[in-house]
Amino acid sequence: MSYRQGLYPLLKKENLAKNIYSFTILCPQIAEEAVCGQFVHVKAQGFSLRRPISLCGIDKQNGTIRIVFEIRGEGTKVIAGLREGELVDILGPLGNGFTLLSPDKKAIVVGGGIGVPPMLQTAAHYGENATAIIGFRSANAAILERDFKTLGCDTRLCTDDGTMGQKGFVTQALETRLNQPADIIYACGPGPMLKGVVALAKQHGIKCEVSLEERMGCGVGACLVCACKTVKDGQEYMKHVCKDGPVFDSGEVVFE
Ligand SMILES: Cc1cc2nc3c(=O)[nH]c(=O)nc-3n(C[C@H](O)[C@H](O)[C@H](O)COP(=O)(O)OP(=O)(O)OC[C@H]3O[C@@H](n4cnc5c(N)ncnc54)[C@H](O)[C@@H]3O)c2cc1C
Ligand code: FES
Repeated sequence: MSYRQGLYPLLKKENLAKNIYSFTILCPQIAEEAVCGQFVHVKAQGFSLRRPISLCGIDKQNGTIRIVFEIRGEGTKVIAGLREGELVDILGPLGNGFTLLSPDKKAIVVGGGIGVPPMLQTAAHYGENATAIIGFRSANAAILERDFKTLGCDTRLCTDDGTMGQKGFVTQALETRLNQPADIIYACGPGPMLKGVVALAKQHGIKCEVSLEERMGCGVGACLVCACKTVKDGQEYMKHVCKDGPVFDSGEVVFE
């Protein structure tokens, strides 16, 4: 794993929804090496442990990365307080990204809530050949729909309460989409959502990769904080979400 740490200028800060921010950061070396599905570890001033945030966008030409994150606690609140022009302390790119097929294959990306951002760069690889199924609690938490549409993706937005898009969970929209052929499914979101997506992928015999979230310490495989249970050939193994993931083949993941 090749990564670097540095202070990089925050070029653009946007407020996408209540407590959800988009940062575009100038860091050419990280952008050059990054692949979709990886994450960066961001330092919040005053905290010793960094906060993991997925790469939502990678622009190798302009040397920028984009992260989209929600304020969950004190760390993300401090990070959200940074202003354009200030420096962001970043360690990255970290972890393993998604397996990408040829761009002419049919891909489905499924994101739930703050699991939607890592799906954007993955969908960009497939453009019009991607179906983006993105779900939120309510209209006021919905983000990035326009970005997926701009990529040419068949974008299907769902809300739990029906205040925007289709009413219901992303798994229902996925079930409908699977009436047509697909080559691969990628997913990131809450555990129950991932479990539902993985079950549908298995039922339809489609390769599926999921991005997992675990609390993290070091982010580079040294502290064991992010251990998760996986299975291969009937044998159970403990793996590190930071170093072995955060992307795993769906057949490997043990949902507790
Ligand atoms: C690989 C990876 C990628 C991630 N990508 C994104 C992203 O793109 N956008 C985004 O908004 N968030 C993302 N997260 C979650 C993000 O790291 C946490 O929300 C953040 O660390 C919380 O820090 P805090 O100091 O604000 O909150 P804390 O005060 O540490 O915690 C506040 C709340 O957040 C929850 N929390 C803390 N850490 C995590 C975690 N790792 N995963 C889930 N919930 C957590 C806690 O249970 C608690 O309820 C990612 C996490 C991982 C592991
Ligand atoms: S966060 Fe330290 S080993 Fe994964």
